[in-house]
Amino acid sequence: MTLGSSLLVDLSDLHHTQVRPLALSDEAVPPEGSVLLAVERFGFSANNVTYANVGEAMGYWSFFPAPDGHGQIPVWGHARVVRSGHPGVAEGAEVYGFLPMATHLLVAPSAVDVRGFTDGSPHRAARAAVYNRYLLRSVDPFAAASPGPELEAVLRPLFTTSFLLEADLAQHDYHGADAVVVTSASSRTALGTAHLIATRSRRPALVGLTRADHVADTQAVGCYDRVLAYDDVPSLPIGTTTVLDLSGDGAVVADLHHRLGDALVHSSIVGATHWQAEPVDTAGLPGAPRTFFFAPEAAERLRETAGPAAVESALVAGWRSFAEVMSGWLRIRTGTGPDQVADAYRATLAGTASPRDALVLSMRT
Ligand SMILES: NC(=O)c1ccc[n+]([C@@H]2O[C@H](COP(=O)([O-])OP(=O)(O)OC[C@H]3O[C@@H](n4cnc5c(N)ncnc54)[C@H](OP(=O)(O)O)[C@@H]3O)[C@@H](O)[C@H]2O)c1
Repeated sequence: MTLGSSLLVDLSDLHHTQVRPLALSDEAVPPEGSVLLAVERFGFSANNVTYANVGEAMGYWSFFPAPDGHGQIPVWGHARVVRSGHPGVAEGAEVYGFLPMATHLLVAPSAVDVRGFTDGSPHRAARAAVYNRYLLRSVDPFAAASPGPELEAVLRPLFTTSFLLEADLAQHDYHGADAVVVTSASSRTALGTAHLIATRSRRPALVGLTRADHVADTQAVGCYDRVLAYDDVPSLPIGTTTVLDLSGDGAVVADLHHRLGDALVHSSIVGATHWQAEPVDTAGLPGAPRTFFFAPEAAERLRETAGPAAVESALVAGWRSFAEVMSGWLRIRTGTGPDQVADAYRATLAGTASPRDALVLSMRT
């Protein structure tokens, strides 16, 4: 019997990791009412680094508790039910959901139905429902529309955000803007959003802002009308503009607000990929006040206005077309076992990988 393991990060310095053995293996018998999941694969990207950076403020450390001073970064991916102590959850079933960077997870299914179940563990009860739901892949339309499980693992949570962000913008007619400027334009969340905007018949012009050495790769996706480097902000045309900031880079945001002034009609804080950028005071900038976008809240708003079935079918249709584009652009890079996972984690922290390289990892060897 080989015991499992998990990757912990040091809360005082995210560069420090350690591998901790788990008191779980594929043979462990879950308590009655619980289910043992074997974590088969998960995507890893800047999104997960943001979870770590806002872990304290936004509760991301509480999903998968770790010993004092440490945290388990949540990831999205696939797991298999290896042992079931719940009559409604079959052994062998494969699920998609929120997981730790670990080989195993014990969950306590509640709200079990034909589509999946919720982890009803008390320490997760206060968190947004979407994070606690596990979907059975065998009956999941999103999985069925996926070219493969790897692409799904790495893009699904990001594309879901792209979909919600674009739907929110479209509902507000892009805030009356003639252009949308997206920072960290090479990120997959940005690309998904741009792809969806680009498919609308009436839409604003799309400008991507990225690091100079990411311009060519970003242009190659083909969804932005223009792709500029961060230093090119002074050449942006001045017209009514919505800014979607995924960089969290105060200097970039300040440059945009100063350049566009009153023409900046909507400024949305979506992400924080440039987490090592020097802090800059962004209070009192010219242009629209900055507002925070949070995907789980947007999902609830959209389901209420459009209805869950319509939302799901639009999401899956959008995913089908984005997955096709990404299949020809992204390169899936796999890593297995604690050492390769830790190396991939450090490379993501540093932001050294090409935007085209998508990590699909597993702590299992
Ligand atoms: N608000 C929400 O509800 C929500 C939901 C999902 C995701 N998000 C956020 O969206 C952002 C994008 O996530 P993603 O997973 O799509 O990103 P990703 O695909 O991993 O993005 C990679 C890109 O991010 C930038 N980057 C990454 N690490 C960096 C570093 N250490 N230093 C400088 N630049 C770095 C670079 O883009 P550039 O060179 O183009 O800047 C890089 O090409 C994250 O901050 C995530 O948290 C927000």
